[in-house]
Amino acid sequence: MDKNIAKNRIEKLKKEIAFHRYQYHVLDKESIGQEALDSLKNELFKLEQAFPEFITSDSPTQRIGGQPLDKFKKATHSSRMLSLFDAFNKQDMADWEARNIKIGGEVKGGYFCELKLDGIAIAIRYQNGKMIKAITRGDGQIGEDVTGNIKTILSVPLKLTDIGNKKIASIVNKDFEVRGEVIMTKAVFKELNKKYKKVGKAELKNPRNAVAGSVRQLDSALAAERKLDFVAYETATDLGIKNNSEKREILGSLGFKTLRENKYCKDLKEVEQTHTHWEKNRDKLPFEVDGMVVKVNDLSLWGALGTVGKGPRYMMAYKFAGIQVTTKLKDVVWQVGRTGILTPIAVLEPANVGGVTVTHATLHNMDEIKRLGIKINDTVILERAGDVIPKIVKVLFKLRAGKEKVIIIPKKCPMCLSTVSKIQGEVAYRCTNIDCYAINLRRLSHWTGKGAIDIEGLGPRIIEQLMKGGLVSDVADFYSLTVGDLKPLERFADKSAENLVEAISNKKEISLERFLIGLGIHHIGEESALLLQQIINSKFQITNKSQAPISKIQNILEKISIEQLEDIPDVGPIVAGSVYDWFHSKKNI
Ligand code: IVH
Repeated sequence: MDKNIAKNRIEKLKKEIAFHRYQYHVLDKESIGQEALDSLKNELFKLEQAFPEFITSDSPTQRIGGQPLDKFKKATHSSRMLSLFDAFNKQDMADWEARNIKIGGEVKGGYFCELKLDGIAIAIRYQNGKMIKAITRGDGQIGEDVTGNIKTILSVPLKLTDIGNKKIASIVNKDFEVRGEVIMTKAVFKELNKKYKKVGKAELKNPRNAVAGSVRQLDSALAAERKLDFVAYETATDLGIKNNSEKREILGSLGFKTLRENKYCKDLKEVEQTHTHWEKNRDKLPFEVDGMVVKVNDLSLWGALGTVGKGPRYMMAYKFAGIQVTTKLKDVVWQVGRTGILTPIAVLEPANVGGVTVTHATLHNMDEIKRLGIKINDTVILERAGDVIPKIVKVLFKLRAGKEKVIIIPKKCPMCLSTVSKIQGEVAYRCTNIDCYAINLRRLSHWTGKGAIDIEGLGPRIIEQLMKGGLVSDVADFYSLTVGDLKPLERFADKSAENLVEAISNKKEISLERFLIGLGIHHIGEESALLLQQIINSKFQITNKSQAPISKIQNILEKISIEQLEDIPDVGPIVAGSVYDWFHSKKNI
């Protein structure tokens, strides 16, 4: 075949295939039989084999391919991928609106109500209209480059569709980033499990788990088998529009799947009606949802409201009631936390809640035990909403048989046998031994854990081994570990010892936020650490580029006054007091 004819034919075939893919996978319409479509793909494949110079990254033949990866590359987000704050009832929503009115004035433009898809968030970048990169949320700033796997999702356009709106076209034709949810429909989930059962393969637990596993699959051919779907809901590119509701139209015209069910509501009353409707009818949807995302529709208010900590003020996740089952409380064990607080953990008869087997649930503290009126051997209602930790919501008192046992607080720490005492003014009980083995182990695991410094391969089991071997007793000890120290230990070989030392060394430079979280100061979590970081950075002119050494940070934090801490927006006296006390304890410094 003549080169020019081949080029022409390839272009035409790509367009034709993209059109039918869009009809089928985005619009759910079948415009051509799947076998006919396969033969078009086959013709394209053969032509590209004969003229490889005409293979482009947006060709449908390039969706699956490439060698399986060893591991994913890290990728930095163009802007932080935030999370959402949760509301559970009408009052929470009214409080949210009242707060917003105080900050940004009357919410005149109403709300845009979207279904909250239960999958995993992905950012997809396009350059000159072509898909170039897909990144997982990760910690919000840095995620994993999963481009190969996301390319296999047939509802993701490899090339943005030309749109009529010239202004939008000129914006998206440069750099464009869409954000949305990768999901697995209930039908695909069922079909896959049926298939897996037949061939004796382990079944998938629930659609969300299946998505997370597939997106992080190193072999994109295996990810393709999972038939994932992508629904777009946000952009990280300013489209120059006024209302959130316009976003859906634009995303649709660029070739993305969006949800028909999402709708404009003029006020909270309509939001409530929509929420009630979907809470009742969620089972009828082809995919799993765990609530609604309610977004202030007037985009000019987004800037005025801004973000606080991990999430935007202009959006709210309005959760649906969780999935409930009944089970039995077999026992209560007491877990010693990193601050020494004893937490009662319910040991349950294993129960399947929304596809997840639950054997334990936290009972929080003695007040919660009193509030529930719970005793050992009681039949209880267990609830799990979305991926939230399962909790006991109710005791079925009428089912008692007289063999129930009262739950009592141990007098001695279950780990070190020291005295347990009640913390004044709080409901908690604490182990009084500052050298308690359990407390130390939890402190160290907290430091290396995903929420803080995130050192790969340094989980509680290894830390326990290092503690028992006398190699580590506080976090500073991690940084002087050598390959020679580790090699003689059980479960360690040359390579694993080297890997661990390298993983520790890789995390010697960390953000101030992670550092503050890692210290494990009472009441300091992701949100308050971020606030503190912002304030410290601005007060002491630390820019991202100029690294602040530990000594400088220590100096700052020792000098900061309680008033300065309380001045930080959203930091109350309890958090301020906790930070202040921590940095004025000799032991901690
Ligand atoms: S907006 C600010 N819209 O819910 C970040 N998120 O719990 C939220 N999600 O990480 C982006 N459906 O993965 C948005 N219609 C929707 C959503 C949605 C599901 C997920 C998203 C986010 C998580 C927060």
